[in-house]
Amino acid sequence: MIELEKKELSKRSSSEIEVLVDKLIKQLTISEKIGQMYQSGHQYTVITGPIFNASKTVENIRKGMVGSILGMNEPEMIYNLQKVAVEESRMKIPLLFCNDIIHGCRTIFPHNLALSCSFNPKLVKEVSKIAAYESAHCGINLTFSPMLDLVRDPRWGRVMESCGEDPFLLEEYAKAYVEGYQQDDLTKYDSIASCAKHFIGYGAASGGKEYNSVDMSDRTLRQYYLPPFKQAINSGVKMIMTAFNTFNDVPVTANKYLLTDILRNELKFNGVTISDYTSSGEIIKHKIAVNNKDVALKCLLAGLDHEMISTSYVEELEGLLEENPALENNINQSVKRILTLKYELGLFDNPYKNIYQNHQKYLLSEKALNVAYEAACQSIVLLKNENNILPINNQKIALIGPFIDNNNLNGAWGGQGKNSDCETLYEVFKNKNIHVEYSQGTTDEYFEMPTDNVDLDLINEAVEIVKDSDIVIMACGENQHMSGEGYSRTNIELPNNQIKLINAISETKKKIILLVYAGRPLDISKVIDKCEAVLYTWFLGTRTSRAIVDTVLGINNPNAKLTMTFPRTVGQIPIYYNQLNTGRPYDKNNHGDRYKSRYVDIINEPMFPFGYGLSYAKFIYGELKLNQSNANKIDIITVSTVITNESKYDGYEVVQLYIEAMCFTVSRPNMELKKFQKIYLKANSSQTVVFELKYEDFKYYNIDNMNITEPGKYLIKLGTSSVDYKQVEIVLI
Ligand code: BGC
Repeated sequence: MIELEKKELSKRSSSEIEVLVDKLIKQLTISEKIGQMYQSGHQYTVITGPIFNASKTVENIRKGMVGSILGMNEPEMIYNLQKVAVEESRMKIPLLFCNDIIHGCRTIFPHNLALSCSFNPKLVKEVSKIAAYESAHCGINLTFSPMLDLVRDPRWGRVMESCGEDPFLLEEYAKAYVEGYQQDDLTKYDSIASCAKHFIGYGAASGGKEYNSVDMSDRTLRQYYLPPFKQAINSGVKMIMTAFNTFNDVPVTANKYLLTDILRNELKFNGVTISDYTSSGEIIKHKIAVNNKDVALKCLLAGLDHEMISTSYVEELEGLLEENPALENNINQSVKRILTLKYELGLFDNPYKNIYQNHQKYLLSEKALNVAYEAACQSIVLLKNENNILPINNQKIALIGPFIDNNNLNGAWGGQGKNSDCETLYEVFKNKNIHVEYSQGTTDEYFEMPTDNVDLDLINEAVEIVKDSDIVIMACGENQHMSGEGYSRTNIELPNNQIKLINAISETKKKIILLVYAGRPLDISKVIDKCEAVLYTWFLGTRTSRAIVDTVLGINNPNAKLTMTFPRTVGQIPIYYNQLNTGRPYDKNNHGDRYKSRYVDIINEPMFPFGYGLSYAKFIYGELKLNQSNANKIDIITVSTVITNESKYDGYEVVQLYIEAMCFTVSRPNMELKKFQKIYLKANSSQTVVFELKYEDFKYYNIDNMNITEPGKYLIKLGTSSVDYKQVEIVLI
């Protein structure tokens, strides 16, 4: 393998590329065209579904039967395959190398749900820029990220890849991810193309069960699920992946309404559509196709360009074309989009772009690690801090729990991250010369089924250590492999062995600070009252432990806010902040009122609401000021307030602006997030925060499914979470 210099790649206008692509397509045989529509795996492809047989990959590339490759990140192997494509195939068309770079390539950042709690799109853009830089230097051309599924059900294992439950926040993050990866110029050696997924509705899988079906009204689709994809398209995203699920009974991968009517005709997406891993072939199991030929026809007509792993296109399209020559138009369209992307990436000028012998030197740079630390700090959510027990100082600390001396901290979809890149919490305390006593107490054993297994000796050892301390830091949670794809759970409590450990430690009456490692909101109702403080630490990647220790010590003041509602019990799910009111809304001061929308056995309030997260600082919100009480279509409404940090800690505050429509042609939620600002306030200082709102900011899909602002009365609510705010009224005329 040779070290190639970074020669500048031609930047071509879209019309120049179009001419080149049209010329190239004319020279291709039908089978070469169809070959471009196939994404193959190869040896060492990360398998996320049925096992892939790689024995024919090289031969297929040589025959011009492969357009792209999934899941490889070894530059040498990428080089070897690319060489076959550009030296041994007839038309020498370069391959496109695609991978799942979800929250970092080698430097691992907090998983996406954790990072979304930073309420910091600028930081997300920075993170994705670094992820792009590292992946590009491993020979990767495109990442299957961002995942833009709106999620309301923590039983679903993939909530960890999402940015939470709010459509507005998802839009902000969609833009940040796409711009970070693509950097407005795909010929750059530091950028990669982005693929938004999973189009659409996968996050609403019924019951939170993996791959399950989705039934959704057109209004819900447009109001909640489409906006992030629309934003990704406006930001220039190059590829969109279809979801595994059925959508109103038609699998998305063969759903013409979604892939053509909405995606192409309405949203004007002109990039590549790709199926998810074998999701095209799976339409046989969905029982809308009888065989592979049927699969190929249905997916092609629906608007699917590129087929991942399944082989219906490469096996059947040529035959179908003989029966129906008009299909060549559909094929040409798809091939055109795929080749355009390869031109945009500069692969025709330099197919070996970003292949380096010493690629390791581009990974884990100091800058990347600093951003990883900052991202980790801004993702930790302080859920409870009774008597301001945190931050701690000068106390005799006992460290207890399965995550204390554990470096499995990258979380699911951890790219090329290595456990050995992560320090353990115990190591960080020791490196800082802070005296701590440690006992594991129980293991982080990976339990697919609930178990009562506990090792009493381990628990007793922990209790003895705790007796001799002032304060206990317990690190518990779900193992990093208990969330992610294929990890839906009906029980989202801490594993039983850990609950038992916490119970035993709490009997010592020592004060407990609980750290919760997780890929989803967990139900911690059984243990929360036993702990003085709770920090939700998710899986924060390479710099997990430094960020946590610095937060416990007060070097970092927590500033993240939840982007998913935390239920009190699994029975409250789906639970999310922007629910509709019902005709008999719940009255929290009168739970016993039978004919109200409630459960008999539990209050309606979640354990922790959307937008919630504490700080060591105390932020006081002043009264809200509105520049006008009526507004018309051209007015700019300004809402302002003074926020004061009445504490000795400097810190960030996420100021959140919600609206409530008092009357509309359809029922709207009581709270809709419309804006937010993350401000930094020094101890004992104040700042005036000003938000501007336009008439369009009050839009919603109305009774006729038109996205408009209807005149009438609205409330504007400004606060520190979705339940703690001040409000003013405005009339739109
Ligand atoms: C996942 C996708 C992923 C793909 C390729 C699938 O199982 O659903 O999100 O991009 O595998 O690895």
